[in-house]
Amino acid sequence: MPDTSGRRVKVVEVGPRDGLQNEKLSVPLGAKVELIDRLSRAGLRFIEAASFVSPKWVPQMAGSAEVMASIERRPGVCYSALTPNLQGLDAALAAGCDEVAVFGAASETFSQRNINCSVAQSLDRFRPVVQKALEAGVPVRGYVSCVLGCPYEGDIAPEAVLHVAQALLAMGCHEISLGDTIGRGTPESTRELLEVCLRDIPGERLAGHFHDTGGMAQANVCLALDMGLRTFDSAVAGLGGCPYAEGASGNLATEKLLATLHARGYETGVDMAGVQAAGRYIRQVLSDLRRQQAA
Ligand code: HMG
Ligand code: MG
Repeated sequence: MPDTSGRRVKVVEVGPRDGLQNEKLSVPLGAKVELIDRLSRAGLRFIEAASFVSPKWVPQMAGSAEVMASIERRPGVCYSALTPNLQGLDAALAAGCDEVAVFGAASETFSQRNINCSVAQSLDRFRPVVQKALEAGVPVRGYVSCVLGCPYEGDIAPEAVLHVAQALLAMGCHEISLGDTIGRGTPESTRELLEVCLRDIPGERLAGHFHDTGGMAQANVCLALDMGLRTFDSAVAGLGGCPYAEGASGNLATEKLLATLHARGYETGVDMAGVQAAGRYIRQVLSDLRRQQAA
């Protein structure tokens, strides 16, 4: 668990999942594996490598079991995956994921569009997933999407975020990642959200997951650091978005997150040059695929 008084920050690399799930192009297995291996060699200790969701909903994440079977499993690295239901969890456990994540939302409409059920139904669906994962000795992360706005409903009350976050913690999630899915947060709205959440949830249980659509993700990270958060999600090369949130651009780039953290004297244990090289690698893969498609 991160120490919120300290200078150590946990970086959760979500590029191979949040990044690639939104690519229009189909990224070959070998490139996904190479990307993940480059990221682990760069010192990233938490890598969201896969997503066991319906391939009809998110075709880009089909083949997640093959990804998990083909990556180099570096000791000390936590390779995690999204698991929306028991079917996904069983696949993730069979694939040997070190951690899994359930993902809910603070917006009813987004919940329906993203996982085809209401917020209350999603919590009922997650409960047995979390229980079974914990029984198998696998920790569970909980995501709350749309914490700073919804692509369908607009503004979201911080209390709605807190309600879902508390429910996920109560069922056994060890950490809640607060997702600014469409990247419309500002330091002001981030402060309002965190003031409400931190009244009931310790900062070490919260993570910031800022998409960078509005270009404010680094400013939001700085604000969240000042308020005691020590875990942040980011995607190498700023890859990503969400297929059910049109207009959502990529996550905060891991390169930018590291630059911000290191400049402010925080330690991450991550090698910037290695991450930059991984970023160049995946950009080249995507540009080659685009060229092939256009030809
Ligand atoms: P559903 O259609 O309601 O599910 O989808 P169902 O239980 O009725 O099953 C329908 C079919 O899906 C069946 O197949 C199942 O086998 C299959 P059929 O009989 O028709 O051939 N199915 C599955 N297949 C593989 N793996 C599974 C699975 N579950 C059912 N786990 C469901 C419900 C949740 C499955 C669907 O809506 C889904 O997969 N949604 C995924 C959406 C998604 O991945 N969104 C992106 C990730 S969230 C995100 O990006 C936000 C985040 O980054 C934070 C932030 O930025 O805010 C985390
Ligand atoms: Mg996201």
